[in-house]
Amino acid sequence: MTVEATLQHGQPEMTKRMQLHAHVSQLQDENGLQYLEIDNPLATGKIALQGAHVMQWQPKFLSDPVLWLSSNARYIKGRSIRGGTPICWPWFGAHPTDSTLCPHGFARVIPWRVMDIDATQTGATRIILEMQQTPEAQRQLSYPYELTLTITIGRRLRIDMATTNLAEHPFVIGEAFHTYFNVSDISNIHITGMQDCVYMDKLLRYERNVEHNALAFDGKEYDRVYVNHSADCAIHDSGYNRIIHIAKSGSDATVVWNPGAEKAGSMGDMGTADEWRKTICVETTNALDNMVVINPGRKHTLSAEYSIETL
Ligand code: BG6
Repeated sequence: MTVEATLQHGQPEMTKRMQLHAHVSQLQDENGLQYLEIDNPLATGKIALQGAHVMQWQPKFLSDPVLWLSSNARYIKGRSIRGGTPICWPWFGAHPTDSTLCPHGFARVIPWRVMDIDATQTGATRIILEMQQTPEAQRQLSYPYELTLTITIGRRLRIDMATTNLAEHPFVIGEAFHTYFNVSDISNIHITGMQDCVYMDKLLRYERNVEHNALAFDGKEYDRVYVNHSADCAIHDSGYNRIIHIAKSGSDATVVWNPGAEKAGSMGDMGTADEWRKTICVETTNALDNMVVINPGRKHTLSAEYSIETL
């Protein structure tokens, strides 16, 4: 059987379930991939342990999910799931010197392990995951480090990714939370928080320009890196009557991406028909001008917090 023939679209059957905590169960699917399902008084959520990938988060006061997940995402070992919050680490985009290595780094396709689960004072569920040092991870990055992700699921979704340099020399990383937000339609939204910021347009060979207005979308591919951008931003959605607020720290760049009709059609896992119109990626990032140098023994943390204002 060819690799393509074994690709599976849509969520596979779950074969095992185990309760880890009052609000968290662990599931395994028929392909051996593992997931955490969270159901607390404030929100529901789902995390794939491959990639520490938050697939779903929905506060209970909302009727529409906050994260977009493709209806034909692939759930197989070594492939990233299309939707939710993929983790890009330790580089963003193509590897700087070796194009055979995974785009956006390998953290999104390596299994992570659960280190701790607890409840916060507000009733949210906090889960700490650590990336496993598999042979594949070591092949792609040979020096020692520790990478943990703390995911807090409640009325807000908070993600903190901590990189600790355990080597005896400094190293440089690129990284992102590549979050796919669920929107009513790409033509109904605008994004604020980037005015007067310099961006590099990946579709124009990284040409630099200044953003003068709120971002709006006409259905064509959009792929820009806002550099030296550490401010919060917001997605205003007149169809869902809500604003998604994106607060961040430890991040000096923001990427905004939507594939547009043509590219979505060629990707194979971007959903059916016009599903691509129902998402926008706003990525809390360190990339290009804003890669991060981590000195020996030091820890760097990238954080994002998403909250919803209903109108
Ligand atoms: C965005 C990049 O962050 O991710 C785009 O800016 C890229 O250039 C997109 O196409 C999707 O990447 P991938 O590897 O998940 O298909």
